Amino acid sequence: MNLYDEDTMKKAAFIVFEGGEKVGKTTQLQLLKTYLEEQGHAVVLTHEPGGGDPDIRKKLLDKKGILTPEEELDMFCRDRTLHVENIIKPALEKDAIVLCDRFEPSTIAYQGHGRGMDIAHIREKSKQARQNIWPDLILLLDADPNIVLSREEATSRFDAEKIEFHQKVRQGFLAQAAEDPARWRVIDATRSMEEVRQEIKKHIDSLLTI
Ligand code: TMP
Repeated sequence: MNLYDEDTMKKAAFIVFEGGEKVGKTTQLQLLKTYLEEQGHAVVLTHEPGGGDPDIRKKLLDKKGILTPEEELDMFCRDRTLHVENIIKPALEKDAIVLCDRFEPSTIAYQGHGRGMDIAHIREKSKQARQNIWPDLILLLDADPNIVLSREEATSRFDAEKIEFHQKVRQGFLAQAAEDPARWRVIDATRSMEEVRQEIKKHIDSLLTI
């Protein structure tokens, strides 16, 4: 656990799900929430972008919207500041397990590796936004975009990017996981929902030693 006073924060944990588009994060987050609640944990399920300000999410994803990379980065970081202050920190202080759909690693993968922005600059801006909060565990649902993306129509500015963009994003996530294997778990998301669920459960049980 990464937070505050260990005596009063024993159950608090910040767990982040990462991955490209359509890898099944939403379904697995719901399944995990149910599992943890059955174990008696208080769980807060949240997401980025939009966890801080739903209007920011709308603007970021709008397929007709035009933003420079720097404007886009600013908006992700503004949303993160509000999200950490208003949702994540208060939940952890109340001993909850926070399950979060995307966090800073998405900014590094999408804006850094995908858009080609300077990664040190991104880290600096996001560091200010997250205010010392960092995940205890990051679960990367990994899949080749060629397998998962071809099936569906684009619903956001990011979905609408070319396959090469999504390949760079995937490599961006895998590179971050390789840099910090103690905190990251890479999960093959091309398997069945049940197989993925079982692997996630194994990692969570080991983190929480249920
Ligand atoms: P999602 O809610 O369907 O995952 O969509 C959010 C989109 O925003 C997704 O395409 C990834 C993108 N994104 C970034 O580009 N940078 C970020 O920092 C975050 C949190 C998300």
